[in-house]
Order: sequence, then structure tokens, then C-alpha cells
Amino acid sequence: MTDDLTAREPVLLSFGPGALGTAFGAGPDEQVQLVRPGARTSYPTDVLARLDADATAILARYPQPRSALLPLLHLVQAEDGYITPAGIDFCADVVGLTGAEVTAVATFYSMYRRGPTGDYLVGVCTNTLCAIMGGDAIESALQEHLGVESGGTTDDGAVTLEHVECNAACDYAPVIMVNWEFFDNQTPESARALVDALRRGDVPTPARGVAPCTFRETERILAGFPDPRDGVDDAPSAGDASLAGLRVAHEKGMYAPDPELPGNRE
Ligand code: FES
Repeated sequence: MTDDLTAREPVLLSFGPGALGTAFGAGPDEQVQLVRPGARTSYPTDVLARLDADATAILARYPQPRSALLPLLHLVQAEDGYITPAGIDFCADVVGLTGAEVTAVATFYSMYRRGPTGDYLVGVCTNTLCAIMGGDAIESALQEHLGVESGGTTDDGAVTLEHVECNAACDYAPVIMVNWEFFDNQTPESARALVDALRRGDVPTPARGVAPCTFRETERILAGFPDPRDGVDDAPSAGDASLAGLRVAHEKGMYAPDPELPGNRE
């Protein structure tokens, strides 16, 4: 052995399916290579000026620049539709990290996408409860109906189909998320009708929340900018199934222990 680092063989780590293909890393169908043919490697001057102004607004909300990395990744995803080398470099410059460090973060979370995304990202939950309740059948039905594999986008650029992990809406299984808005208690038939409506531009209103905007508009909201959709502040966020336990608890006079009382602060 030698301590001369330059004499050592490089260590190459394999990321993605079979390695870190989990809810947080690359999904099993997802491209893991961030440098795609045709991907942007830099921004034109006017785009850069706009991104700089937005980044300044985002950075102002955080005590440390690097704390703003997650919303900044959503910002560049709003610009490009996915995480590009240009987006990685921009974020790295803004927060003072290396491109490798930004890439490590971007590839850890499945909400940051590795490839172009259609106007509507349709995520079919195939985690345990949704799968049992029909999520797998819905995903297969949509693949056949749309003519794309999981991770693929329809030719018109309207819909990108993927399967997603549990989104904590198991009480409405099986669920589909359209740009992160919930469509509950789906069936293969309702799912086909849903994507047909999206492709017509006739965007349905979910049982909870308001009608989804486009993927890029959604990404801008996730970056922390105002949500311009009508009624978004008054839309229901919890439905009957989620509130059933709370209702029973109230009927029976059950309450959580008061954390201020001695012995309740575990
Ligand atoms: S398993 Fe589908 S939302 Fe939880």
C-alpha cells in the first residue's frame, strides 16, 4: 500500500437501479445520467439575469446560502423542465458549492428529474397499499393507453408517466398525483379519463386542492414563489377519510397528552 493518492486507482460508484434505486434516489425506471444529449450546459444572458433575480429573492429567506439549495433546484427545474448541467452549475455558483455536491443533492431526491418532463407529471402510486388496491393495474393500463413506459412522455409533450412511492395518502388508495396534486381512489377507467382530459387541456379539479398548473409552473411554486391559482388558500387539504380518526377521538373525548405537563415530554 502507498499513501500517494495519485497512485491509487479511481473508485467509481454506480448510482441508480440496483444501487440507490429507492424512494429518495433514482427510481427503477429513471435515467441516472444528468448529462443528456441536448441538455443545456449554460444559460443565455437574459435567462441568467432572470434566474439571478429569482435566486436573490430565494437566498434572502435563508440564513446560509446553501440552505437555499432545494428551492434553487426547483427554480432551475422550472426553467428547464428537469435538472440540467446548466442548472447544476447555476445552483453551485449561487450557493458556493461544487457541482458534484449539488449533483449529490439533486440525485438524492426523486422530485428532481433527470429527463425532460411533460406539462403534467402523472405519478401512479405503486407502493404497498396503493398496489394492493389497484395501483399496479392502473400503471399498466396507463402505459398501454398512452403508449409509453414508466418515465416516458407522450408525443404531444402533455403527459409524463411515472410510478411514485407512497405520498401519505394511503387512506385514498390507489392515488395518482398530477404535478403533486392528489387524485384519489382511482381505477384504470378513471385514470384513462384523467390523462385524456389532461391531453385535451381540460384539467380536472382534484377532490382536495385545486386544479394542477403545468409542471414548470408547479416547480416555480415549489421554489417558493406565490401560487397564482384561484382558490388555492381555501381548498380542502384533508378529506373525510383522513379526518375520521379525529372525529372518533373527539366523540370519545380523547386528546393528545399535554406536552407541558410533567412526564409528558419524552
Ligand atoms: S401507498 Fe399510495 S399513498 Fe401510501
